[in-house]
Amino acid sequence: MARHNYKIRPAPKWEDGNFIPATPIPVQKPPTQWSLIEGLESIQTLARNAVEATTLYSMTHMCAFAKSFGIRMWVPADPEIIRHLFVKNAASLKMQPIRQMLLRPVLQDGLITAEGETWKRARHLLAPVFTPRNTDGFADTMAQSAREALPELFGNETDILLSNKMLNLAYTVLSDTLFSGEIEEDTASVLSDIAQLLNLLGRPNPMDMLRFPRWIPRVNRIRGLRAVKRVRKMISDGTDKRMAAKARGETLPDDFLTLLINAGDENQAPLTRDEIEDQMLTFIGAGHETTSRAMTWMLYLLSQDTVRRAKVEAEVDALNTSLPAEDWADHMPYAMACFEETMRLYPPAPMISREVTDDISFKGYDFKPGDAVMINLWSLHRHRQLWEQPDAFVPERFLAEARGKIDRFQYLPFGLGHRVCIGQRFALKEAGILIALIMRDYRFDYSGETAPWPKMRITVQAENFMPMKVSRR
Ligand code: HEM
Repeated sequence: MARHNYKIRPAPKWEDGNFIPATPIPVQKPPTQWSLIEGLESIQTLARNAVEATTLYSMTHMCAFAKSFGIRMWVPADPEIIRHLFVKNAASLKMQPIRQMLLRPVLQDGLITAEGETWKRARHLLAPVFTPRNTDGFADTMAQSAREALPELFGNETDILLSNKMLNLAYTVLSDTLFSGEIEEDTASVLSDIAQLLNLLGRPNPMDMLRFPRWIPRVNRIRGLRAVKRVRKMISDGTDKRMAAKARGETLPDDFLTLLINAGDENQAPLTRDEIEDQMLTFIGAGHETTSRAMTWMLYLLSQDTVRRAKVEAEVDALNTSLPAEDWADHMPYAMACFEETMRLYPPAPMISREVTDDISFKGYDFKPGDAVMINLWSLHRHRQLWEQPDAFVPERFLAEARGKIDRFQYLPFGLGHRVCIGQRFALKEAGILIALIMRDYRFDYSGETAPWPKMRITVQAENFMPMKVSRR
């Protein structure tokens, strides 16, 4: 049997009343037994679609290890090991060079790619921007923005590609909270630029994985940079305008851009113009595609599991939307459990990878400087020893008492430790708002000929863009 099974696409199925979506068959043979050809094949698969390269070994072992082309790589799943590495020994890990190679040309010193003192300063300055008070304060803007966008997105056609619509919606909501829609050009062309840069730069190049020297040109890296330039220009023009308005003493809109411009205090110099630009670009890059992917997969899963969909609809129908939008998610525990379960099955940002910089020994494992450590959320969230019915959609596991049994370090859609997602609260508030407003008025039925296939391009997305029939409820 071929070692990689990516050409076989199993159909979705039902087991014990639970829906099991179509999922790549994990690679059966452990990496320690791979031939040279199989190792190369694995690198190719990783670059094409990393979820297809997931090994059964990483879904059954608590700390998988492989050595491939001289690179020692760990994939921990034991929550204690994960905690020991990423929380207790965070100072002995740095961003992996390959990740930096992919993202740095785009995001420069944005929070995701910054390291050392630059990261510390940025995180320190941005923490007050993302306080619960500020984040919750954006909830009404999010709701308003979604209310305005929905009829245009879902009200006119019956056959849609949900992935694209959700990207559009999440970008619209984000841009209204980032810069009050003020510095936006035309949403479609900005989205196309962002998609280009995420697509081209989000696709790891096999040359990078094999650590080929940087001076060898990578075609995909060169191409995306033009789109980056356009998005950067849009942000810097908007920042200039806003700074000029501040200098004139005008009242500034309540949004992230104003918060960034006003960040800093007597102990911390304010963010420079370049830093603001890097951070805004980072928020755009990190903050809309992730949420939109999770929403798209959730609506797909519910389109199959119509019993559970009816439960979410009942909850949404009972929601009093005259309550402040920041509170909506708290009144929809079942819907939010569905959202969390979706992020278990389809973690939007599934690779948390680092390089070890100092010797770390724990539970009999020796992590050496230069080793790669990768929390692969795809395999962690479907790990055979950590989850019951690991491939099935069972939102109930995220309800009340059952939720308490899930270890903090076995479910990590937003990452962990000091580099945990700064936008987590924002994303969850937004998800609650979008679920409420979308599912109150619209229903989606999957219309693809074959089941949607997960494909990883930084985020986990549907290869066929998720065709749906949309109807008004
Ligand atoms: C469902 C939505 C989201 C998911 C699943 C998600 C996931 C993640 C994950 C896994 C990380 C950690 C990466 C690592 O350690 O290597 C991260 C970091 C980050 N996220 Fe999110 N994110 C989401 C939404 C957002 C939003 C809405 C924003 C901003 C508006 C945002 C901004 C960031 C930033 C700036 C970082 C880097 C933090 C640092 O390194 O200090 N994210 N996110």
